[in-house]
Amino acid sequence: MNKDKKVLYSGMQATGNLTLGNYLGALKNWLTLGDEFDCFYMIADLHSLTVRQNPAEFRKRARQLFMIYIAAGLDPEKNCIYFQHMVPQHAELAWMLNCFTYMGELNRMTQFKDKSQKHADNINAGLFTYPVLMASDILLFQSDLVPVGIDQKQHLEITRDIAERVNSIYGDVFTVPEGYYPKVGAKIMSLQDPTKKMSKSDENVNASIYLMDDADTVVRKLKRAVTDSEGVIAYRPEQPGVNNLIDIYSACTGKTPEEALKDFEGQGYGQLKTGVAEAVNSILVPLQTRVKELEQDKTYIDSIIKNNAEKAQYYANKTVRKLQKKVGLIEMPR
Ligand code: TYM
Repeated sequence: MNKDKKVLYSGMQATGNLTLGNYLGALKNWLTLGDEFDCFYMIADLHSLTVRQNPAEFRKRARQLFMIYIAAGLDPEKNCIYFQHMVPQHAELAWMLNCFTYMGELNRMTQFKDKSQKHADNINAGLFTYPVLMASDILLFQSDLVPVGIDQKQHLEITRDIAERVNSIYGDVFTVPEGYYPKVGAKIMSLQDPTKKMSKSDENVNASIYLMDDADTVVRKLKRAVTDSEGVIAYRPEQPGVNNLIDIYSACTGKTPEEALKDFEGQGYGQLKTGVAEAVNSILVPLQTRVKELEQDKTYIDSIIKNNAEKAQYYANKTVRKLQKKVGLIEMPR
């Protein structure tokens, strides 16, 4: 790729309901970082196949995720927002990179271990090679920066290792990407068990705030959020529940945790929870209104889905051809 600007790349899976963790750990940072980069934002629908999906539900969620990206403020004319499966080069590169990835490396992935435990009846090969597909996503676009939550760090590291391995054999094939993890919000915790990550797949709906939760639900879930018996609003690891609420408030308002503490000086947990709910709703309410508007405009959405997929294919193809040539695959005669 002829790069005028550096490339920013990220993506999300369209499985389950998107949570506030996804927004604060990833999407929000895409918005603030985006200006300086050429940006690619992908909907990781092939990754989602590692877990059985209900097809009708899956289609609906994937399309909604596309609209959430736009509703959050990503301009689809300036940024390339696309569905992974519409760019077949992801799977092509993933195959080649499988041949440069060791079983031992994949065995060490904590997400594989966690997901195998959760889905013991379906430990498929896709779950095992998931990080290789993710490496392909990132390397396909010669990405420089990948803003993600802290749970993706191990995947970023294996991506860098694979890129460096290929480069050391064939010369300069891939840009070696850097991860970007926000100072506040890189790991939003469950509202019901603040020692656990807030997760789309949590069975307890009160543990997560979903991006499409209405304002009253947000208030109710935050009222029920687990805190502690200390009764003091502080920002310290010994109070993980309160810590998490301060993190959410800070990430939503753009304030530092210290500034957040000042806002709640002399107040109790009830007031903290109300303040956090207001900060969350000030983001979610306009986001949901915009999603609903976009849902009405099928023709427009369809046209950008197509244009952006073609744009992504164009860049992706260059990288695939480059590696094919390097490894010695014969070019198809024109
Ligand atoms: P996924 O879909 O699980 O999550 C999407 C993004 O949200 C972040 N995140 C969180 N951040 C803070 N607190 C939380 N509780 C929280 N939960 C999730 C994740 O770190 C992520 O940034 N494998 C990826 C999707 C992917 C991808 C990629 C990402 C596929 N290819 C290429 C970047 C680049 C995943 O499952 O994310």
